[in-house]
Amino acid sequence: MSGLLAEALGAAAGGCALLLIVIIIIVLCLQHRKRTSDSSESGFSDQALPESQEARCLSLEELNFATRNFSNGNLIGQGTFGEVYKGLLQDGTIVAVKRRHSPPSQEFIQEVNYLASLCHWNLVKLLGYCQEDGMQMLVYEYISNGSVSTHLHGNSHALGSRLEFKKRLSIAHGTAKGLSHLHSLTPPAVHMNFKTSNVLVDEDFAPKVADTGIPGMLDRLGVTGLSSRTFNDPFVEPRMKEAMNLNFSIQSDVYSFGVFLLELISGRKAVSDQCIIQHRASRNQVTSP
Ligand SMILES: *[C@@H]1O[C@H](CO)[C@@H](O)[C@H](O)[C@H]1NC(C)=O
Ligand SMILES: *[C@@H]1O[C@H](CO)[C@@H](O)[C@H](O)[C@H]1NC(C)=O
Ligand SMILES: *[C@@H]1O[C@H](CO)[C@@H](O)[C@H](O)[C@H]1NC(C)=O
Repeated sequence: MSGLLAEALGAAAGGCALLLIVIIIIVLCLQHRKRTSDSSESGFSDQALPESQEARCLSLEELNFATRNFSNGNLIGQGTFGEVYKGLLQDGTIVAVKRRHSPPSQEFIQEVNYLASLCHWNLVKLLGYCQEDGMQMLVYEYISNGSVSTHLHGNSHALGSRLEFKKRLSIAHGTAKGLSHLHSLTPPAVHMNFKTSNVLVDEDFAPKVADTGIPGMLDRLGVTGLSSRTFNDPFVEPRMKEAMNLNFSIQSDVYSFGVFLLELISGRKAVSDQCIIQHRASRNQVTSP
């Protein structure tokens, strides 16, 4: 009887995995097709948002007010671009402000306008920027319910929660839409730092891809955005690690998306094989004199 149960469970798990794979293939196929309006399904629109795509120039005064002078209490993280602060603008919008030390530059504004043009329901929206006081800042909409990584693996404050399979499926679907929107642009936009901790969810668990285009932007601004990626990162394609060449492309984004799916389905952290090799090597060093 337990054999029967195991068989049934195995079949169910296999069926679910198959369903997921079919959905992913459909999403990837959609990318190559002419987009027809199918915004009826699941309330998500495939089209870019019709709103204005210009990023607003905000004053340091406004941002100081919003983040209580960038107080430590408002610090919510550290990203590729720099420290991230939560803030409340005077019009009531809750925002995430990323900032880094850098003198003002015209290229930064060009890059900001490019980032703001990458607009989709499943991408975290860039609202504005600020260049003052030796700082460059990016102002994003605040996504309230944390990252998929926190939901799966927990963090220092919270244990990972059990995400229902249905939610995981809709997160996978929405995330694929966000990423495939980037890839469908001409020229295609490459995310370059796609990973589970860069997929945020709102209060309805709709996924929003964060950090889009930031590594490429830093690279173009002459900052070491890409080379700072460690070779232990399981989201980076092994082929690129072997070639010691972080040559990001649509293909490498899709590889990262695969690792994300693996984490989403298994609920476990992906570990780089490089890590395992190093771990073994260090263990061997300990045992051999
Ligand atoms: C922020 O700094 C300004 C000037 O130093 C000060 O007047 C203001 O009270 C500070 N605001 C907060 C919320 O700490
Ligand atoms: C996410 O949203 C759910 C339901 O809206 C809520 O119960 C939960 O506390 C939220 N989690 C986080 C990390 O904000
Ligand atoms: C990066 O990859 C593309 C194709 O994937 C190739 O055309 C290009 O030459 C590569 N660049 C480097 C620096 O290897």
